[in-house]
Amino acid sequence: MKAICVTPGVADSAHLKEVEKPSINDVPDGRGVLVKILRVGVDGTDREINAAEYGAAPDGYDYLIIGHESFGIVEEVGPKVTELQVGDYVAATVRRPGNSFYDQIGTYDMTTDDVYFERGINLRHGYLTEYYVDSPEYIIEVPSRCRNIGVLMEPTSIAEKGIVQAYEIQRRMKIWRPKKAAVMGTGTLGLLASLFLVLRGLQVTSFGRKVPPYKNAELVEELGAKYISTKETSISEAAKEHGPFDIISEGTGNSGVVFEAAENLGKNGVLILTSITGGGRNLEIPADKINLDFVLGNKLMFGSVNANREYFEIGAKDLAQAVSQFPGWLDKLLTHPVQGLDNYQQMMDLLTSAKDAIKIFVEVAEE
Ligand SMILES: NC(=O)c1ccc[n+]([C@@H]2O[C@H](COP(=O)([O-])OP(=O)(O)OC[C@H]3O[C@@H](n4cnc5c(N)ncnc54)[C@H](OP(=O)(O)O)[C@@H]3O)[C@@H](O)[C@H]2O)c1
Ligand SMILES: [Zn+2]
Repeated sequence: MKAICVTPGVADSAHLKEVEKPSINDVPDGRGVLVKILRVGVDGTDREINAAEYGAAPDGYDYLIIGHESFGIVEEVGPKVTELQVGDYVAATVRRPGNSFYDQIGTYDMTTDDVYFERGINLRHGYLTEYYVDSPEYIIEVPSRCRNIGVLMEPTSIAEKGIVQAYEIQRRMKIWRPKKAAVMGTGTLGLLASLFLVLRGLQVTSFGRKVPPYKNAELVEELGAKYISTKETSISEAAKEHGPFDIISEGTGNSGVVFEAAENLGKNGVLILTSITGGGRNLEIPADKINLDFVLGNKLMFGSVNANREYFEIGAKDLAQAVSQFPGWLDKLLTHPVQGLDNYQQMMDLLTSAKDAIKIFVEVAEE
């Protein structure tokens, strides 16, 4: 079968390779699930792996099959698989357990290990191929009504984890009644976070840089949320009108925005950090003021990375609700289809050139 691979450590090495089709017997004890891949989403991670910024091949290989955002259909199950059936639509988690205690209890997204095993990213092959085999523990059923947008499951799990954990942490409040939320960034993750906060009944204000008319701003407003360009209105000015924010989800990739968000978090509020900031930027911030407001206002901020199956399952339910509540909205996020694995170069080019892309994805196969 075909697979899109890179040679880790070598920039611009994306290529198509013929690899062996996996078998359900690759997983021991009759627990293998063979999934035919239908679509795979790509994002900045794939671009950065192809730029040789990170990514490693599994032991015994000199190539890595990339792709971590999978959607497919179960084609065969081992005799001891009871959780899934042939014909189920599914998505798979990305990280696989390492050695820490947290890995051993299914919360591999909370690992304390320094090495991550991530399908399509580090030390494990990914999904930009025709089939994969895995244990049902890592495979989540996607409701059939979500078939058209099932490729959004992995980014959904990232947005959901931050929000779900924020609610869990806020159990410190005994009764917490959040009313207003802010989302920093209206890329793929910011749009999904805006959606999930709207579904939870919050009044949402989402911030991007671009000045409307702007497609992502329209998408925000279609949810009944408010879009604000930070080029026109500062976060502080907007917070006076639309805050105080009980919950803020930050995903701009810009660490400066984190501290502006912190300054505008409401009392008892929670700030979710998800931006991966690989740079080495130093900033001057009003440290005394931010600290004092956090202390006097009982505020908190926390980081959130990756997701385990719990957040995929919550995501599947929320996507199904969104399909009913906002018909067609999620489909509009699927802006840039690429036809077939053969067009891997077009996929890579779009990752650098398509500035208006929300989700670039490869149509790997028909059912
Ligand atoms: N924690 C995790 O597990 C995880 C997983 C995947 C990705 N990530 C990270 O999550 C972040 C978001 O991902 P994404 O795919 O949604 O990225 P994206 O498409 O690049 O979106 C970033 C958004 O932030 C906005 N932005 C940037 N600077 C801003 C500013 N100063 N004020 C207001 N808005 C600003 C951008 O607006 P304009 O387009 O108008 O400039 C854009 O809407 C990235 O940092 C990514 O690396 C985290
Ligand atoms: Zn991704």
